[in-house]
Amino acid sequence: MNFLEERILKDGIVKPNNVLKVDSFLNHQMDISLMEEIGREFHRRFGDKNITKVLTIEASGIGIACFVAREFGVPMVFAKKSHSINIDSEVYTAEVESFTHKNKNNIIVSRKFLNQDDHILIIDDFLANGCALQGLIAISKAAGASVEGIGIVIEKGFQIGGQVIRNLGIQLESLAIIDAMDSDTGSITFREQ
Ligand code: G4P
Repeated sequence: MNFLEERILKDGIVKPNNVLKVDSFLNHQMDISLMEEIGREFHRRFGDKNITKVLTIEASGIGIACFVAREFGVPMVFAKKSHSINIDSEVYTAEVESFTHKNKNNIIVSRKFLNQDDHILIIDDFLANGCALQGLIAISKAAGASVEGIGIVIEKGFQIGGQVIRNLGIQLESLAIIDAMDSDTGSITFREQ
């Protein structure tokens, strides 16, 4: 069991409807020592790539992506969620649907901050249905940049996203993959990696 799986077992709370609360250490209150370890681990896994930018999406991805970008010594760029229908030509944009929140957002990144010379590492906290990641991949493509890999802290292996992304042929590294969880017993089953 790795450091992240251990922490999930210690402090994660399984809620009904397959929701895992990790807000005491990951996406509300953040354990900075853990963030540093996550940054180092993604650098270990993707350090052989010539990464020029770390890309994530607001809100919860930002903190984690900062620590990853620090390890690589490159800027971190985050996609903003925009409710505006009038998207200007200065931005790359993609539509992202949230199954959890049952809504659609446009996500945007300024053209100033991504271009065809970029080698991108995408980072996010959760991978569920993969819609957010597909939006970030679309934005990278629109910029002419190459996606060198995707690093996820917690993948919900029983939802479709991981399979969809792996089928695209992109290196996807999830620090923990949850195959099952039970809110009655609080049990969490991790995939052997
Ligand atoms: P997807 O991004 O993989 O397509 O998944 P989905 O639409 O289902 O997820 C919507 C939001 O719910 C995402 O945050 C995602 O991180 C979060 N999420 C999904 N499953 C869980 C879970 O089990 N526990 C927790 N804590 N979060 C989960 P978001 O609303 O887009 O972003 P943010 O503003 O919270 O960062």
